Amino acid sequence: MKEFNPEQFRSEGHRIVDLLAEYLEEATKGEGYAVLPVSDPDELAEYFTLDSGNGRPESYITIVNEFIKYSNHLHNPGYIGHQCTSPLPLGALSHLTATLLNNGSAVYEMGPANSAMERAVIKHLAAKMGFDKKADGILTHGGSAGNLTALLAARQAKCSYNIWEEGVRENMKPGFLVSAESHYSVVRNLKIMGLGAESAVTVRSGDGFRMDPGSFSHAMKDAEKNGINVIGMVASSCSTATGSYDNLMYVAEFCKKHDLWMHVDGAHGMGVVFSDRYRHLVKGVEAADSVIIDFHKMLLTPGLNTAVLFKDGDRSYETFEQKASYLFSQGVEREWYNGAKRSLECTKSSMGFVAWSLFRYYGDSLFSDYIDDRYDTAAQFGAMIEGLPDFELLTPPQSNIVCFRHIQEGKSPTELNAHNDLLREKLIADGTFYIVKTTVDGNVWLRVTIINPLTGMETLKRLIEKLREIAGKASI
Ligand SMILES: Cc1ncc(COP(=O)(O)O)c(C=O)c1O
Repeated sequence: MKEFNPEQFRSEGHRIVDLLAEYLEEATKGEGYAVLPVSDPDELAEYFTLDSGNGRPESYITIVNEFIKYSNHLHNPGYIGHQCTSPLPLGALSHLTATLLNNGSAVYEMGPANSAMERAVIKHLAAKMGFDKKADGILTHGGSAGNLTALLAARQAKCSYNIWEEGVRENMKPGFLVSAESHYSVVRNLKIMGLGAESAVTVRSGDGFRMDPGSFSHAMKDAEKNGINVIGMVASSCSTATGSYDNLMYVAEFCKKHDLWMHVDGAHGMGVVFSDRYRHLVKGVEAADSVIIDFHKMLLTPGLNTAVLFKDGDRSYETFEQKASYLFSQGVEREWYNGAKRSLECTKSSMGFVAWSLFRYYGDSLFSDYIDDRYDTAAQFGAMIEGLPDFELLTPPQSNIVCFRHIQEGKSPTELNAHNDLLREKLIADGTFYIVKTTVDGNVWLRVTIINPLTGMETLKRLIEKLREIAGKASI
């Protein structure tokens, strides 16, 4: 097959790497492209239509260039939007390698090296949580799938019958205490599991948008009143909108007292286990039954790459116990090296290799320095906002997520919301920054995730100046 020609791969590969290196040089300087080039979804879909011109490309590199041109540029220091990291460039090379080898890793034979590396990554992370040798886990494509995997294990462990085999019974209503601030995937997953919306029993948030420990018992009573049998609790480390860390010591104590499964959604903020200075934010995580952490958020790793960790490794086998004779020779045996036995996914990308390569090459210190630096910068930015007369801070940042808004005398709450909405739109159209927004108690807040290691206080001061400049224009 002529398409497998190594020479073509070599020559195109060199050109692409050169192109990407130039791209990286411009993007990291904040030059070359708008952070998010403004586009209309329908128009862009039309522009990229495959209805004509297939198989007749100008050249391979033009195809790659088209993708770059209309993408969001995460290496630009003005990228302070969502929680997708600006990945380490060597991570991209790991991805390239993993993609060419395409070792699926549902079973050991389809990815021996990757399976072993995944195991090493899981054991490394489990030790960081303070778990002992009994701990185990798997990698999933993303935190939403990770939360589902953990919640399924919780249900299987705490249900009074084999719900995996027998299905959900009408008179059996398992539920979870869930923070009002939890990521939407938690409630969505409970619905996917067939437990319905009422299985997510909301715990009110208190100080700093953390779960209010005084409300834990109230939530239990609410559940009882509605006939829900609470079997677990989900804490956030940290929450998505405001970056708040639930107090895991209180959560652990409550779970122990009521025999609940303790799950910690650490998709965004569990990276603090690498930091001596910020680890205190997850004190108590060692008591959790399950934890997830996204490497593609605060560990500089290209996505997707999520670890699901179980304090008791046996739990990770119970959820998906199933015979699949074409994959596993001895259906029910607990073989760590056949990953599909413990995952809702069958074929997976070589996430183990990608994460392992970065830990191996850089060591933990890269991640601890990075976390310290990003969290310090967010704290400084929060303090700066607090000192400005024309801006308001929602809450002092606990992580690298900061919510704030521009205020103008005489504007009603509705007008202020519209003002900040428009401010963000115009800021993005200007091209120098990409930020997002969130709504809290009916108010619109501008929201930044200071995730790009190149975003310093100078960039953030420029952001404020730019927002003021836009707000000062008559049209807003
Ligand atoms: C706290 C939290 N959990 C889970 C997720 C979902 O992760 P993913 O986007 O990898 O599915 C997110 C995403 O932002 C998150 O912030």
